[in-house]
Order: sequence, then structure tokens, then C-alpha cells
Amino acid sequence: MLTEKQAADAPAPRAAGVPLDPASLVCLFEGHYVPLAAANVNIMTHAFMYGTAVFEGIRAYWNEEQQQLFALKVPEHMTRIRNSCKVMLMTDVPSVDQLTNEAIEVLQRNRFREDAYVRPSFYKSSRAIGVKLHGLEHRLLHPRGPVRRLRGHDRRRQGRHGLLGAARATRRSRRGQDRRLVREPGISKTEANLNGFDEALVLSDDGHVSEGSAENIFVVRDGVLHTPTVADDILEGITRAGIMEIAADLGYAVVERTIDRSELYIADEAFFTGTGAQISPIVEVDRRPLGTGVVGPITARIKDRYFDIVRGRVPEFGHWVTPVYPR
Ligand SMILES: Cc1ncc(COP(=O)(O)O)c(C=O)c1O
Repeated sequence: MLTEKQAADAPAPRAAGVPLDPASLVCLFEGHYVPLAAANVNIMTHAFMYGTAVFEGIRAYWNEEQQQLFALKVPEHMTRIRNSCKVMLMTDVPSVDQLTNEAIEVLQRNRFREDAYVRPSFYKSSRAIGVKLHGLEHRLLHPRGPVRRLRGHDRRRQGRHGLLGAARATRRSRRGQDRRLVREPGISKTEANLNGFDEALVLSDDGHVSEGSAENIFVVRDGVLHTPTVADDILEGITRAGIMEIAADLGYAVVERTIDRSELYIADEAFFTGTGAQISPIVEVDRRPLGTGVVGPITARIKDRYFDIVRGRVPEFGHWVTPVYPR
């Protein structure tokens, strides 16, 4: 909740269509609410030198009818970032409740009346040489901004290979790396894009389907949804869990199992899921049309339900969203 003073300090709401000045966005930086332009770190900062930071991406969806902004699954993201902090030997991390409240407060302070994206990050803030992870301080950063339809829903981009999500399997494997410790941000995506595809399909060490570059994958065969198991080197996506909940609610069976790459060639439908991708139908794989080559009916049904839920229109799924503004 904003105090009177905070409300007075917050940027004035922008009229529709007025471009945002990113430097004026309010973020929480090392315990203070400051404009993004003032949230800077020194080049000797450990996180800058060695990449020792963890982050989450959280979406918030504007609902025009309700004049409300709904932040999606914030406690789930804060639980995961705390787990990431454990891996990085960052202790004394604020509680899930506190982090959630802070995220909501920064959204409030920015007075967003549009879809927005929150990017909390804990980073090793000590100015120190040496790759060790222990004995270093860390700080929290909560920058955020509006999103201009990153990808997925509503974006009917007729790309070179049809609708968004046309994917090509890369031969990239994880080489036994623990997904929680080592990410390959952008590498597989870049390879796919440079080869003329919208997205990469990343395989596990043993050649099975794992996930996209920053998405989990679902494959539909004979009316049943299939998705790789946690042992198939996936990141356990928050959206993935949500889709399993929606599928069950709509009466579709979901099977977590190892999936062969060739199964994608004969699947009826497939789609990626993720905070960024939301629900992105896959309509082509390895230059073969997937299913009928257009968005399938089960994918479309799940996608429609998902976007109703995230915009706060489905009371039974009210536990997914946190209203940002007081009613
Ligand atoms: C490798 C990878 N897989 C899957 C996902 C999807 O996770 P979520 O649904 O929690 O955003 C992400 C998100 O960034 C990711 O980086």
C-alpha cells in the first residue's frame, strides 16, 4: 500500500500512447526506491565481473474492464529466486512475503496501466576479485517496466516459418550441466535465429526433447498432453505447472514422460510455455509442418483459458494473481 508521500513521489500516469522514458521507472535498488537511471553498480562488482547473480521474470497483466493490474504468480517466483539464492550461497534473503510485497509496491509506484514485467535480481555486490561464491555480500534489485507484447498471445506474426514458435531441434546438449547452476542464456536461441528459425528445441544429454531456450514444451497426441519430466534436464517452469493445472481443469490428461525428438514430427499439436513466451504454439519443426501446420484446437483452448486467468477474469484461478492496486 502506498503512503500519501509515496503516491505523491510516484511518476504521473502516462496517457495512452505516450512513450515511456525507461530512466524514469521506479525500482527498488539496495533498499531504496529510486529512478532506474540512479540504479548503477561499479564495474568491480563481483556480479559484473563473474556473472554471479540470479533473477526472475514476473509478468503483470492490465485488465481494462476492471481497471486493475494483476501480477502473476509472484510468490511462486519469489520462492524460486530464494532457491536460486541458496545455490549461490546468498543467505539472509528476505521472506517470500516481503519480496512479494516489494514487487507489488514497485508496480504501484510506477502506476502502470498496461502490461508490465518485473525483474527481481539478487547479485553479489562485493567489489572483489576471485571467483569464490562465499564470504561475499549480495543485494536485491527490483527493476521493472511495461511490456510491449514480448511474444506469444495476440502476436500473430507471420514469420518466415509461419506463426511464432516454429521450432527447429538443435543438436545442442546440456553436457551434464546442472540447469540450476549453469544456464545457456541465449545461446540456443541465437543459433536457431541465425539459422532462420524462431526458436530452438534443446535436447537432453541423451538426445530427448528437453525444452526451448527459455520455455518448457508440451506435445499433444490423441487428445493427451505430454511434457518432459524433471529428469529430462528441464527448468521446472512456473508456467508449466500452471498449464498442467489448466489442462486438468479442462479435462485433459497430462503425462510427464521422456519424449523423442521424432515424436514432434508426428504430434497433433505442440506449444511452448514460459513467463516470456506465455503460450506459444509450435507450427513447424525441422522444416516439417507440425500437425496441420496451424494452431491446434487444444492449444487454442488452453491459451484462451490462460489469458483469461492471468487477466484476473477467472475467480477459480484467483490464487494465480495478485491485484496491484487497492480495490
Ligand atoms: C530454460 C528455461 N526453461 C523454461 C522456462 C520457463 O519457466 P517459467 O514458466 O517459470 O517462466 C525458462 C524461463 O526463463 C527457462 O529459462
